[in-house]
Amino acid sequence: MADTAPASELVTLEVDGRSVEVAPGSLVWDACERAGVFVPVYCAHKKLEPVAVCRMCLVEVQGMPKLQPACATRVSPGMVVRTATEQVRKFRDSNLEFLLLNHPLDCPVCDRGGECDLQDFTQRYGPGQSRQSITEKVHFNKAVPLSDKIILDQERCILCWRCVRYYEEITGEREIVLQERGVHTLVDTFEHQPLRSEFQGNLPEICPVGALTHAKYRFRARPWDLRRTASICSHCSYGCSVFVDAREDQVARYASSDNPDVDDSWLCDRGRYSFPELNRKDRVLSPEAATAGGRQVVSYQDALGRAAGQLLRVGSDNGGEAIGVIGSDLMTNEEAFLLQWLARDIIGTPHLGHRLLPAPEISPLDFELGIAEIEECDQVVVLGPLPEQLAPVLTLRLFKAGTKRARKILRVEAPFTVAAIRKQVIGEGRVGVVAAESDREAALKLRTALTGAGRRCEVLTLMERVNSRGCQDLGLLPGWLPGYRRAPSPGMELPDILEAAIAGRIKALLVVNPGPDLEADPRLEAALKGAEVTVVVAAFPGVASRNATVLLPGRTIVEKAGTVTNAEGRVQRVRTAVEPKFAFPSDLKILGDLARAMGGELGAQPLAGPVYDLLARAVPAYRGAQAGLRPRWEATA
Ligand code: SF4
Ligand code: SF4
Ligand code: FES
Repeated sequence: MADTAPASELVTLEVDGRSVEVAPGSLVWDACERAGVFVPVYCAHKKLEPVAVCRMCLVEVQGMPKLQPACATRVSPGMVVRTATEQVRKFRDSNLEFLLLNHPLDCPVCDRGGECDLQDFTQRYGPGQSRQSITEKVHFNKAVPLSDKIILDQERCILCWRCVRYYEEITGEREIVLQERGVHTLVDTFEHQPLRSEFQGNLPEICPVGALTHAKYRFRARPWDLRRTASICSHCSYGCSVFVDAREDQVARYASSDNPDVDDSWLCDRGRYSFPELNRKDRVLSPEAATAGGRQVVSYQDALGRAAGQLLRVGSDNGGEAIGVIGSDLMTNEEAFLLQWLARDIIGTPHLGHRLLPAPEISPLDFELGIAEIEECDQVVVLGPLPEQLAPVLTLRLFKAGTKRARKILRVEAPFTVAAIRKQVIGEGRVGVVAAESDREAALKLRTALTGAGRRCEVLTLMERVNSRGCQDLGLLPGWLPGYRRAPSPGMELPDILEAAIAGRIKALLVVNPGPDLEADPRLEAALKGAEVTVVVAAFPGVASRNATVLLPGRTIVEKAGTVTNAEGRVQRVRTAVEPKFAFPSDLKILGDLARAMGGELGAQPLAGPVYDLLARAVPAYRGAQAGLRPRWEATA
């Protein structure tokens, strides 16, 4: 709230002798932050309403007889705030002594040690010694499993209420309560029921101490053991920002990183706890080739030469159209762009795809509505449960729009008949329609009907995987060139490519980063066996790698660098958080090297930056969007 008002309306006040201007209604805490003055807080949290229960943030305000909580006191013109007076110092010291009275001496064995506000503030403001004997402490239960994901240590709790308020204000669920009174007050689940929320993984982050911890991170690392990399959750197309905290070559945890335009600070449990899959020990670690003597480990150059030679031979014997190219929506934008270029311009085939579902009439109208813009719509129509199942954090945005912004959320069940939904859409204002990709047609029909009736109406379509949108934007589909331009030749969809390989009409397959859906499809094995040549780039062993005539080791999303595009069309960076166990080139470089070995010239280094420049030339909407922006599709019109 600190600085969005016009300059003429700003409130001027003084904090520790510094003059600051903030928006009317701002908190003294905001003003202190703006002045660059740190005020310690426990119960206050930027995403929660103030309650002022911990008293850690008390400051002097000239003219007021008692210390005031900075987290709950609104600014007024000419206010004079002092945060470092003797009175404030003494109060903080006593407050910390009080908080530590019954706090266990757990720091050496607490998962929060090294990133705990109680440790940090005690060191900075607290008493050097305790006047309480260690034998007099009141004890509560330790290591209570609240679910298979969250562990509660009741005696580490400082009763800040953040966990209770998180449920009330952010998810709308009521799973955690404060029980008993006075010194016996403790946090527990309602009637000792296990936590069921899909968002409980946010609790350890919202808890300022080590009372709530992740079962999966328990005793796994200290903060100083971790290497933190800002990236994107790879588990769905919503594209929440995460910090990937890695210890050596393993991801130790995903932590949230506030992107107000997308996740608003929160992760769903499905995404947060998806990282063990990336730590799998069974990996494709070296290039291999099928030889007369069976499968052999070969050098990278040998594998590349064989892959190029085999694909060229099939192309010259049967034409490029006898080759099918299969990518996946786990690829980065740069990889997707390079793969479609390799397929169309070097191999000469229109048969390429990245998804088993057909994509008939895709268009940028599918993602006109931004995620944060949901809060600006007067009414939001959600078509069935699928959008929230595909991207759980969407539920929190809808809850916020409904409660904090008083927007009308209309959840409708299938069948989605435009006439029936239109009757429920009231008023004159802006309407958002949120749909799963499988219901995009119904969403667009509703849009047409409402815009025809003079309403402003935009659609947000949720897709399945991290880069489903980017692969589509960049033309890794038959019939669509990068930037939603129609291809001259329609080409076969992925399922038809598999069927054609089984029937012997497709003679070679190039498969890059096969996703779980493709690996689970029974047609894949038959298609690979039916083709004469199968060049595979894969991170994990599976059907594709087992049936490759040439196999090259691929990378997981945390081992890659590049960009991905989320459901609303926002281009976001993924960064290398973990180095793979092998020293072979990245998937992007493999594609560039393969193209060159087949006689193609990319005209740029096969690295994320130069390839992004190339793709932005082909798709002008992507120009300048790699800084976390949504491409302006009208620029291509
Ligand atoms: S468990 Fe953590 S968040 Fe909840 S009240 Fe205790 S200290 Fe606060
Ligand atoms: S909503 Fe999607 S992107 Fe966000 S944390 Fe969950 S799985 Fe990850
Ligand atoms: S942070 Fe202000 S009273 Fe708790």
